[in-house]
Amino acid sequence: MAKVIIYYSQGGKTDLIARVLGNRLNADLVRIHDLKNREGFKNKLLSSLTSFRESKTDIVPANVDLTGYDTIYFGTPTWSGNPTPAILTIIDRCDLRAKDVILFTTMDNSRAEGTIERLERKVKLRGARVIESFAIPTKNKTPEQLVNDTETMIEMKDLRMY
Ligand SMILES: Cc1cc2nc3c(=O)[nH]c(=O)nc-3n(C[C@H](O)[C@H](O)[C@H](O)COP(=O)(O)O)c2cc1C
Repeated sequence: MAKVIIYYSQGGKTDLIARVLGNRLNADLVRIHDLKNREGFKNKLLSSLTSFRESKTDIVPANVDLTGYDTIYFGTPTWSGNPTPAILTIIDRCDLRAKDVILFTTMDNSRAEGTIERLERKVKLRGARVIESFAIPTKNKTPEQLVNDTETMIEMKDLRMY
């Protein structure tokens, strides 16, 4: 069963989690980069607003070839209670028919349900079957704690099964 983890990360925490998942689950990784400048206070505010509005953005890679993959993970930080523009943009370009999808988000301390629900709605529109989802809070956690939390999630959700 071939797996791929498609994710966006601005500050590196979702990236670390995706890399641990990729390593432990033997999955390929595709990191989506957002070409908009999101540094600084003003841009952070705008990022929150664009997430809230579910706006699209310019991304690299622009597309991902999912041929040959059975299970697709989508991972994103939560911004303003929502998925990031970069992950919503790539989802809208994916043909997810007959694909099993696993969704995950990272966040400081807000509830993750909003992000997961929006992701779920989007991937289902593209034909996906959502088989699992999870959230990993990252605030004040060391890289070692994040690795540990990810390994715990793999066991808890039985992710090796897919
Ligand atoms: C623009 C912006 C908006 C954010 N909004 C939220 C939020 O609504 N709730 C929350 O718990 N964390 C929020 N965060 C924190 C991130 O979701 C959290 O730190 C995440 O783990 C960062 O992942 P990354 O390091 O992969 O970018 C926000 C961060 C940014 C930059």
